Amino acid sequence: MSTTNDLLLRTARGEQVERPPVWLMRQAGRILPQYRALRNRLSGFKELVETPDLAAEVTIQPVDELGVDAAIIFSDILVIPEAMGLPYEMIEKRGPNFPKVIESAKDVERLSDGEDAAASLHYVYEAVRETKRRLNGRVPLIGFAGAPWTLMAYMVEGSGSKTFSKAKRLLYTDEQLAHQLMQKITNTLIAYLQEKVRSGAQLVQVFDSWAGILSPEQYRRFALPYIGQICEAITEVPVTVFSKGAWFVLDQIGELPCQVVGLDWNTPPALARKWVGEGKVLQGNLDPCQLYALPETIQSATTAMLDAFGRGHIANLGHGVYPDTPLDGVKAFVDTVKAYRYK
Ligand code: CP3
Repeated sequence: MSTTNDLLLRTARGEQVERPPVWLMRQAGRILPQYRALRNRLSGFKELVETPDLAAEVTIQPVDELGVDAAIIFSDILVIPEAMGLPYEMIEKRGPNFPKVIESAKDVERLSDGEDAAASLHYVYEAVRETKRRLNGRVPLIGFAGAPWTLMAYMVEGSGSKTFSKAKRLLYTDEQLAHQLMQKITNTLIAYLQEKVRSGAQLVQVFDSWAGILSPEQYRRFALPYIGQICEAITEVPVTVFSKGAWFVLDQIGELPCQVVGLDWNTPPALARKWVGEGKVLQGNLDPCQLYALPETIQSATTAMLDAFGRGHIANLGHGVYPDTPLDGVKAFVDTVKAYRYK
């Protein structure tokens, strides 16, 4: 089946396009009243994630409502720890919690990994297939996963944290165990992303949301080699690496075999181009809080961002859209990108 609006895929492949494609990280869920209405009828977040029919519905809502150039499958990065043997709970208004965490070598040994672990995520693959059927080629479907470091951070810490100091402690005190854990997570991520692509995902994004809390040395040692393994294993579709806060290793991210590099809003576009180097498409990076401003202000800030990036760019925010963002602000952002033309 051909994709009617394939602007995202053409841009990611480095082709000449008339304007940048636009989508928003965390566009599925969080902001749309349609999402909240559906969510309120259910027992909780996990029911939505684990019911392919509903996940497909939520995935397509922003395509219908906002006119974005891509859909991103509704799911969560935390399905991977669960598949490996550490189930998560999503606590209302607080976020994720892991009743069991990784504390010892035995805990790491007990985790399942690779294809065995990934096979249990059949509901995600079915959601991807169902979404593709319903999209019927309107826009490409993005698949995603958390990066090994970000997942390890949750698996050791057990919940969100400002510092992730328990997870960082493991890096400083038992390097070998940290590497074993990262490798098991990576094996699972590779099998998972490959199956997502076989199910129909047309681009995959790796979210390293907690990249910015590591030192440059730690990031090089513990995070980049594993992201590199993932990029090497995914050969059928473009890969986006979004390491939030990791401006200090953009030169090395530029050397990964990925096609797109995601940027947070702290990174100036011109410096990012210089650091990442030639041959990569950049994605981002408007401050999510910019969307609280008046539509005219959003329009000029968005145009300035597009001018600063120039060609080889996928328009997005610098992190996920915040839950209390006014829909008019989101629409002003999307509409400005869609009206833009390269000179
Ligand atoms: O981009 C999309 O719209 C697809 C869906 C998606 C979700 N989570 C759904 C979700 C994606 C891509 C994610 C990724 C994710 N999950 C990340 C990486 C991206 C980032 O923001 O840095 C992280 C760190 C998580 C872990 C997670 N899941 C947290 C910390 C929370 C609680 C806070 C929150 O609202 O995000 C979640 C829950 C979650 N995941 C929700 C949604 C729509 C909110 C659940 C609800 O409806 O109550």
